[in-house]
Amino acid sequence: MAPKWHWPQIDPDRVPLVKIEPPGPKALEIIRRDEAVIMQSFTRWYPLVVARGYGPVVEDVDGNLYIDYNAGIAVTATGHAHPKVVDAIKRQSELFLHYSLTDFYYEIAVSLAEKLTSIAPISGQKKVFFTNSGTESIEGIAKIARGYFRGQRPYIVAFYGAFHGRTYMSMSLSASKPVHRRYFSPMMPNVIHVPYPHPVHCPFKAKDPEECGRYALEFLEDWVFGRLVSPEEVAAVLIEPIQGEGGYVVPPKSFIRGLREITKEHGILLAVDEVQTGFGRTGRWFAIEHFGVEPDIIGTAKAIASGLPLGAIIGRAEIMSLPRGSHANTFGGNPVAAAAALATLSVIEEEGLLEHAERVGNEIKKALVDIAGDRHDVRGLGLMIGVELLDERRRPAKNLDEVLTRSFKRGLAVIGAGTSTVRIAPPLVIPEQMALKGVEILSDALKSR
Ligand SMILES: Cc1ncc(COP(=O)(O)O)c(C=O)c1O
Repeated sequence: MAPKWHWPQIDPDRVPLVKIEPPGPKALEIIRRDEAVIMQSFTRWYPLVVARGYGPVVEDVDGNLYIDYNAGIAVTATGHAHPKVVDAIKRQSELFLHYSLTDFYYEIAVSLAEKLTSIAPISGQKKVFFTNSGTESIEGIAKIARGYFRGQRPYIVAFYGAFHGRTYMSMSLSASKPVHRRYFSPMMPNVIHVPYPHPVHCPFKAKDPEECGRYALEFLEDWVFGRLVSPEEVAAVLIEPIQGEGGYVVPPKSFIRGLREITKEHGILLAVDEVQTGFGRTGRWFAIEHFGVEPDIIGTAKAIASGLPLGAIIGRAEIMSLPRGSHANTFGGNPVAAAAALATLSVIEEEGLLEHAERVGNEIKKALVDIAGDRHDVRGLGLMIGVELLDERRRPAKNLDEVLTRSFKRGLAVIGAGTSTVRIAPPLVIPEQMALKGVEILSDALKSR
C-alpha cells in the first residue's frame, strides 16, 4: 500500500523544479539578515531557505521545489504539513496552549503516554517522561539511571562515534566530532567511551563486522570492566542502535545482543538513544526492534510530533522512579505538541508507513548499490540510509561537501553525516518514484566534477 498523496498543490511527478539557481535573490537577502542577528554556530551545508513544505517536498523562498531527503533532519515523519497533523494542532490550539504538567494534569499527555508505552519494545509496565528535545531526553536518561541506583553507580558507558546532543551531559556522552567539544571542557565526569563496531572502519582491524563486534564487547569486558571501573559502578550503557550523526552506521546484530547479555549479567541498564532512529525511520517503530533485544529505557524526540518540539523517555516503570520534585520541566508534554504526536503516530499506523519505509528504503538501497556499491559503502535500514564516500584506499573521501552542493543545485535537499557519508532520511511518506528520482540526482552529483 502506498501512502495517500495529501498535497494537491504539487504534482509529485514534476518535482524537483529548479527555476532559479539557488541561492536566488530572496534567499540571499534572508541569509544576509540571518548572519547579522543569529549566532553562526551551526553546520549548514548549502543555502536552502525554506518557505513551505508539502509532504516530501520543500519549496524555497525563490519558488524552487526540492525533493526532501532530510525531513528537517529526520523529523517530519509524516511529511511537511500533513493535513491530519495540522488539523490536530489547530484543534488543540483552540482549547489551551499550555498548562505545565509538572504541577497539573491534562488528558492529552496521558493519552500520548499510553500510546507510547503501548508501542515501546519493552515488556511489562512502562512509564514516560516528556521532554522538549533529543538532548533533554538523553540528559534525563542519565539522571534517571543514576537516580535509580540512588547514586551507587556513577558511571555511564557510551561509544566512539556517538552523538547524543549539545547540552553538557549529552555532549560529554558524544564522541563523533572534536568540534562538538573543543573549547567547552571540562566535560561531565564518569563517562567512559568504548569502540562501536563500524563495518568499514573497525577500530580493531577485524576481518569482518561480526568479528569487530566481538572485539568491541571484549574491550568493554576486559579493558574497561577488567582494568578501569568495576561493572557494579556502571549505571547504564547508552547506545544508538544505528549511529546517526556518526555516519549512519549499522552494527552487527550479534554485537547488540552481546551487549544486552553483558549489561544484564552486571545489572547495568541498557539505554538506547532512538532520537534519530525512532518512530518508523527504520521501518519499525524503534530501530532496536531489528536486533531482537529489549532495552530498559529509550530516549526519543525528533519525529515524534512531525516537527513540533517534543521528546519522550520511555522506560520500565521500576526504573522511572525519580523522587518527587527531583526532575521536571515547564514545557515537556505540551498539549499542542502532544496532539501533533498522537496524530503523527496514528498517521504512521493508518497509512502503513512502517511497511512503506522498509519497502522504499530497500528500493533506494538497491538503486544506490547499482550506481555506487562497487566504490562506496551503502548501508542502513528502512529510510535511514547512508552512502559513505570512499577513496581508492577505502578511506573516507573528501568530496562530501561538493556532492551535497551539486545535489542541492539539481533539486535534491540532502545533507551529510560523519565526515564522508551522504545521509538519506526523507519523510516516511515519500513516493517510491520520487525517492528513486533522488537517487538519480545523487548519482549525477557523484559522477560530475
Ligand atoms: C541520536 C541523537 N541523539 C540526540 C540528538 C539531539 O537531539 P536535539 O537536537 O533534539 O537535542 C540527536 C540530534 O541529531 C541525535 O541524532
